[in-house]
Amino acid sequence: MKTRGLIDIAEMTTEELDAMMDVALDIVENPAKYAESCKGKKLATLFYEPSTRTRMSFESAMLDLGGSVIGFSDAQSSSVSKGESVADTARTVECFVDVIAMRHPKEGAPLVAQMNVGIPVINAGDGGHNHPTQTLTDLFTIKRELGHLDNLVIGCCGDLKFGRTVHSLVTAMSRYPGVRFVFISPEELRIPEHVRSEVLDAHNIPYVETTSLEDVMPELDILYMTRVQRERFFNEADYLRLRDSYILTPDKLVTAKKEMRILHPLPRVNEISVAVDEDPRAAYFRQVRNGKFIRMALFLKLLGIEVK
Ligand code: CP
Repeated sequence: MKTRGLIDIAEMTTEELDAMMDVALDIVENPAKYAESCKGKKLATLFYEPSTRTRMSFESAMLDLGGSVIGFSDAQSSSVSKGESVADTARTVECFVDVIAMRHPKEGAPLVAQMNVGIPVINAGDGGHNHPTQTLTDLFTIKRELGHLDNLVIGCCGDLKFGRTVHSLVTAMSRYPGVRFVFISPEELRIPEHVRSEVLDAHNIPYVETTSLEDVMPELDILYMTRVQRERFFNEADYLRLRDSYILTPDKLVTAKKEMRILHPLPRVNEISVAVDEDPRAAYFRQVRNGKFIRMALFLKLLGIEVK
């Protein structure tokens, strides 16, 4: 279903993705041109779950376009604590703003919001499901770092079961020719069956699964590290057993390609040693910066604003 906003990255065509990345690049190169393009527009950030990057990059994106921002980052300080539904909250907030960005622990909550309002709703992460603007950030980062999105071997490492950013990334990258995936995870945290059947198998995308990062390191163009998602585990003992399954250290990168790039949606816990940050292949903080530019481009698209 194509929504007015952005709920799932699959809603966007390849042409729309490519056009948005072109706009984001123009924003990087000509920020002054865009400084007042959202003057008079208002964003609401409705975050029912913790966030640093996503919320702040949405907010700084709107501010850098000349617009303004309201919202909450602690749902318990809003009337949600009195039992207000997502639908009623969205209908209320619609009275005040032009666009909503929502993060929620329940899968599908941003879609419920979108079905109840006439303004665009952007999914800023729903449970273990999707995180489409992280994927826009990831694609824009790969494009800026390597110059292309096709013919790449993408290694996804860590919690591939609960890591919603991986699910969205696989969906988006599967549309580019010559892309192949290597999934590196413990047995319990393998990529979910629905991603394998509905995305990979449905589009004949080649992939392999392994538990060994060292074995596959030399073939990767992108290494997409993820944290083990403590908040999605039912059992603390399982989390403690699995949390340090993969720890990227400089010695493990000796066999990696010189042009390989390391991405991570962040926050990291233990899975990338800080010693790796000095490696020019470590692109994860550049990735954070890119998130603001691509979200600026997304606002322009969803609000129908063209900047000449
Ligand atoms: N990448 C990401 O979603 O980070 P936050 O949880 O800090 O928003």
